[in-house]
Amino acid sequence: MVERDRRLARDLRISAAVSEAWWRSGAIYQVYPRSFQDSNGDGIGDLEGIRRRLDYLAWLGVEAIWISPIYPSPMHDFGYDVADYCGIDPIFGSLEGFDRLVAEAHALGLKIILDFVPNHTSILHPWFAASRRSRFDPKRDWYIWRDPAPGGGPPNNWISNFGGSAWTFDEQTGQYYYHAYLAQQPDLNWRNREVRAAMHAAMRFWLRRGVDGFRVDVIWHLIKDAALRDNPPNPAWTPQRPEIERLIEAHSADQPEVHGVIAELRGLIDEFDNCVLIGEIYLPIERLVAYYGEGLSGAHLPFNFQLLQTPWAAGPIARLIETYEVALPEGGWPNWVLSNHDRPRIKARVGPDQARVAAMLLLTLRGTPTLYYGDELGIGDVEIPPDRICDPWAKREPGRGVGRDPERTPMQWDATAFAGFSTHEPWLPLTPDWRTRNVAAMRADPASILSLTRALLHYRRTRASLSIGLWRLLACEGDLLAFERRNEHERTIVALNLGAAAQVWSLPPELPKLKIAISTHCDRDGEPVGPALSLRANEGLALEPI
Ligand code: GLC
Ligand code: CA
Repeated sequence: MVERDRRLARDLRISAAVSEAWWRSGAIYQVYPRSFQDSNGDGIGDLEGIRRRLDYLAWLGVEAIWISPIYPSPMHDFGYDVADYCGIDPIFGSLEGFDRLVAEAHALGLKIILDFVPNHTSILHPWFAASRRSRFDPKRDWYIWRDPAPGGGPPNNWISNFGGSAWTFDEQTGQYYYHAYLAQQPDLNWRNREVRAAMHAAMRFWLRRGVDGFRVDVIWHLIKDAALRDNPPNPAWTPQRPEIERLIEAHSADQPEVHGVIAELRGLIDEFDNCVLIGEIYLPIERLVAYYGEGLSGAHLPFNFQLLQTPWAAGPIARLIETYEVALPEGGWPNWVLSNHDRPRIKARVGPDQARVAAMLLLTLRGTPTLYYGDELGIGDVEIPPDRICDPWAKREPGRGVGRDPERTPMQWDATAFAGFSTHEPWLPLTPDWRTRNVAAMRADPASILSLTRALLHYRRTRASLSIGLWRLLACEGDLLAFERRNEHERTIVALNLGAAAQVWSLPPELPKLKIAISTHCDRDGEPVGPALSLRANEGLALEPI
């Protein structure tokens, strides 16, 4: 056996040994709860709404739903400002309603992942109220308080992610507090053991209630430089860019000590069976993979947002996949994300035709895919009239294209008033074509992107080569990207045309005789494939041996 074959045989054995933990083989679906389904006619989605739509999610074929924050909150950052880690905001429902949602989801085989926001609380959290009361309050050190700089002004040059200084002066005690986001979102001091214990207790509260894991908000921010040194300037910044990019976040995030904090969270998660720890991390690949932790003691899935940032072309995507695959630590399980509530939707970025190719890419890559609600309908970014802007970032930095409302618009269920989302005008507008771009209409159309997404999800579920097999690049020529997924027993070939001109791919002779399992155009299933495979404009094909 030549060395290459020996390595392949070994890797195949390893992939066969990968236990099929649900968070490895299944797909995650992100629900932005304000926008999924309203049940009480206030124009805002809620937990009861999600419960009523569980059947849809089971039908679609996802494994788990991740729900953006539902805790009591003054909603300065729409729930990412938590005033009580162990409750449910009345806008979203009640603890009883939550328990019912978990029970019914589990009965349908769906897992529930909560969004956990440990980096900062709401300004209204009782911990912060205590902390700001006096310099000597026992909770003073739970947050990051500093004297003004020697000449006056903020203690250092750090910038809020939503623009402006990251420090706010508090008259009463004459010190500044640090907030990586809004002034209404003061950062907790994770160097303080009591803070850690309080947050661990909150996580246990939900795990005991049956949740299947957490997506941890801005996990790479938890620890800041002990000396709070100034961040260096970013020479690439221009005034058109968001202000946060003016400096390089060398000292305010991604500090070495954060990995110890995460290992503790992971230890806690591991006390419970089959639960997952996902980390939100916007870092380049080489730094991202450190979040698997020493000896895989970190996040199970450090979110990989690279597809959100890479130019949509075969070459850069092929290089990205290869770089990521090589960078992963041994045993570290990959994952991929195409859209979320903070970034423009995939369709807005790549257009309606490539959005279908993107769905095939996401659902055939090696690693846990995370789908964003509404992407399966091909919802694009919705234009938000100025008087309906809600996102605090958009309000603070107008004109820089940073607003996140366009990707947070309501799910579109049917052609009745307000798309079946609500009986009331929704908090954000629908797409202009909601009367046809909705679940009811698209479910009935076998060629819709919804039908395609469902077909891919179900195909992935039945094929271990896709859900847990190895990944190998076969071709990257012009707009064509082709790869193989393989395990001990099975092979699946994927060929994607990332361009708007037809392509012909000469199949490598070592491939077996193939047929088309799924075309993104939904009209070639079962067609046998000759030595030259034709792909139409913007077509992706999943192929399997005959
Ligand atoms: C994360 C969330 C984002 C939020 C921020 C502050 O990036 O995804 O929506 O604004 O953290 O919590
Ligand atoms: Ca509601």
